[in-house]
Amino acid sequence: MTRTVYVNGDYLPETEATVSIFDRGFLMADAVYEVTSVLDGKLIDFEGHAVRLKRSLDELQMAEPCAKDELLEIHRKLVELNGIEEGLVYLQVTRGSDGDRDFAFPAADTKPTLVLFTQNKPGLADSPAARKGAKVISIEDIRWGRRDIKTTQLLYPSLGKMMAKAAGCDDAWMVEGGYVTEGTSNNAYFVKGNKIVTRPLSSDILHGITRKAVLRMAAEAQMVVEERLFTIDEAKEADEAFTTSASAFVMPVVEIDGTALGDGTPGPIAKRLREIYLDESRKAAL
Ligand code: PDD
Repeated sequence: MTRTVYVNGDYLPETEATVSIFDRGFLMADAVYEVTSVLDGKLIDFEGHAVRLKRSLDELQMAEPCAKDELLEIHRKLVELNGIEEGLVYLQVTRGSDGDRDFAFPAADTKPTLVLFTQNKPGLADSPAARKGAKVISIEDIRWGRRDIKTTQLLYPSLGKMMAKAAGCDDAWMVEGGYVTEGTSNNAYFVKGNKIVTRPLSSDILHGITRKAVLRMAAEAQMVVEERLFTIDEAKEADEAFTTSASAFVMPVVEIDGTALGDGTPGPIAKRLREIYLDESRKAAL
């Protein structure tokens, strides 16, 4: 089935949607994005994603393509037109194009490019991958220093994912200066005793929208959370581990660099947090 996608004000069949070859998103990865999940045909934490999008745009002195209310309308319309019950809405804003390639930004009044499309993912909530848990490898983090801005410079995370696959694993955790930063497309946690440990927010990691919600829910469930730097060796000795992201919610991690965590199956805290997150998010969905 052909999707209906959104490009700069138009809803079009995906085969008819186009962006200029001079677009700075294409030439320079001069673009930011958001991924919002959909459950029961409704958007999960739209507000959080809209706020982070505005922050990414501001940090790069990029114009807002439209008001937040309009963005919400576009998300909802795409979900409806494409009949999405479970899946994702991908949004990208680029600095646009003034019809040539130049390292300097185009004129300030250049119109940003706004593209949105849906991804249908039946079974996203009741996922076999989450029941099994993920195996991760560790790799060096060689990304640029502003990972708090959600840019489309995803080549290294993409290479990291391929390194994981080549090693027979599902994902990679990145390590910088001896400490874990985050997964290729998720935030990373381990659990030891009754404590959930995750790296504190800084420009070294993306400020996950799911992370924020899960940490709030963990505190509400009287779980102990410690935000501090941690090493891969510490995580390998943990009772359990997990990641969070809009596309996989809370994903148990069962193996790190070939070492099984606990009994090698998803841990109770990760499973409980996944349940709470799905439950609470469904209730608050728009
Ligand atoms: N990735 N860290 C990185 C590097 C990410 O790319 C993501 C999200 C996260 C989790 O953020 P959130 O909870 O807001 O989704 C952390 C999205 C899902 C993606 O690139 O598809």
